[in-house]
Amino acid sequence: MAKQPKTIYVCQECGHQERKWNGQCRECGKWNTFVEEKFRPTPQTTGKNVGKSVSTFRDTKPLAYKEIKSQDDDRTSSGIEEFDRVLGGGIVAGSLILIGGNPGIGKSTLVAQVSNQLSQTGGKVLYISGEESERQIKMRGERLGLDADNLFLLPETNLEAILNETERLKPDFVIVDSIQTVFSEKLESAPGSVSQVRGAASEFMMFAKGTATPVFLIGHVTKEGSIAGPKALEHIVDTVLYFEGDRHHNHRIIRAVKNRFGAANEIGVFEMTNQGLVPVGNPSEVFLQERPEGASGSVVTVCMEGTRPMLVEVQALVSSTNYGTGRRMAQGFDYNRTSLLIAVLEKRLGFQISNDDIFINIAGGLEVSEPAADLGVIASIASSFKNLQIPPETAVFGEVGLTGEVRGVLQAQSRAREAQTLGFKKLILPMSNRKGLEKLLGIRVVGVRNLEEAMDELF
Ligand code: TYD
Ligand code: MG
Repeated sequence: MAKQPKTIYVCQECGHQERKWNGQCRECGKWNTFVEEKFRPTPQTTGKNVGKSVSTFRDTKPLAYKEIKSQDDDRTSSGIEEFDRVLGGGIVAGSLILIGGNPGIGKSTLVAQVSNQLSQTGGKVLYISGEESERQIKMRGERLGLDADNLFLLPETNLEAILNETERLKPDFVIVDSIQTVFSEKLESAPGSVSQVRGAASEFMMFAKGTATPVFLIGHVTKEGSIAGPKALEHIVDTVLYFEGDRHHNHRIIRAVKNRFGAANEIGVFEMTNQGLVPVGNPSEVFLQERPEGASGSVVTVCMEGTRPMLVEVQALVSSTNYGTGRRMAQGFDYNRTSLLIAVLEKRLGFQISNDDIFINIAGGLEVSEPAADLGVIASIASSFKNLQIPPETAVFGEVGLTGEVRGVLQAQSRAREAQTLGFKKLILPMSNRKGLEKLLGIRVVGVRNLEEAMDELF
């Protein structure tokens, strides 16, 4: 057997390990994220421990498939419908849920509100806080108007102490704010390091599965690599939710990035108010409410966010620059995809924009990752370049291929209906998606095969 090292370098972003320090992580590409940690062989590799970890918390006899209870029976509503939706229809018994996001975006506010709801419907909630004192949490609670009988606060960071208290209190729900502050005496690495954070998360996993108690872990997204980011936990937990958007917007979008109990990519839309997070009933309306009238470079596209269609405004600004090649910037849309679409516009429609600065922005802080938004991005660039307005009651969607063809997308029907519901008069979509939608009331549905046809329809 090869000689085992005393210490090892662990990327605090993704958990990748190297024997030597590296400036950049080979796995995730992040810089300056390696931290020296004590080397611990994983338990499975040390012969006599094989299989032990499983049997210590659970009786592992084979079960008849038919006798296994369906998990859907065991969902509890969080009391906030928009949050239930992100979770796939409520909180599943024994699930481990990670809530990640930038500091100050509203994670503690959300879990405080959820705790309140849960405790009011009779559940006993244990809120473990390693970041704020009881008084701070109480102050936030008063601001939120919380009136929880069955909510218990535990300002503790020691994992063993936390597990003792949980055993004693036997709560129905556990919240850990944040997992990065929890440390175990048994591990020698520093609090907040990947080993500590993963160690603690695994303990909470065993607790959750062993007692069928749902556990929420809060994880800060960190800028520099000294503290392990929530990414390092994604594979351990059942569900990963991230807050999107930034603190400067009032809207908060919570997205299920991974969900063993529901659709991934499902989003919940909230507004941060003086009374905490308030669910937004009709997100499309909100994303469109500040749309400028009569301005070029703005168009509405329809995206699927999880199972829900959503109308969003794509904005583009094309401006000439005096410096050689133009800059490209995209907010809320993939940068590489933007470059590709600009190249298609240049090559297939002969737009002379290679020397222009081009900025793309998805209004409202939403992040769109669907190719169905391609046509929207192209239309907004064309509109800004030509300085021609796209009629405000027109919406577009469709994937754009490298030859300038407009390709069909999934769920065209629900997208078209959403546009119809919000009073749009004209919808430009891929020809292959048009079938069955010709007769939608009050909206003219136009199919296009390629960008030339799309441009003719738009301008
Ligand atoms: P918080 O939940 O503490 O963020 P996190 O736990 O993700 O770090 O939220 C902090 C921000 O939210 C802070 O800037 C104040 C704001 N806020 C409101 O606007 N309204 C409220 O009712 C509350 C409780 C907070
Ligand atoms: Mg917090």
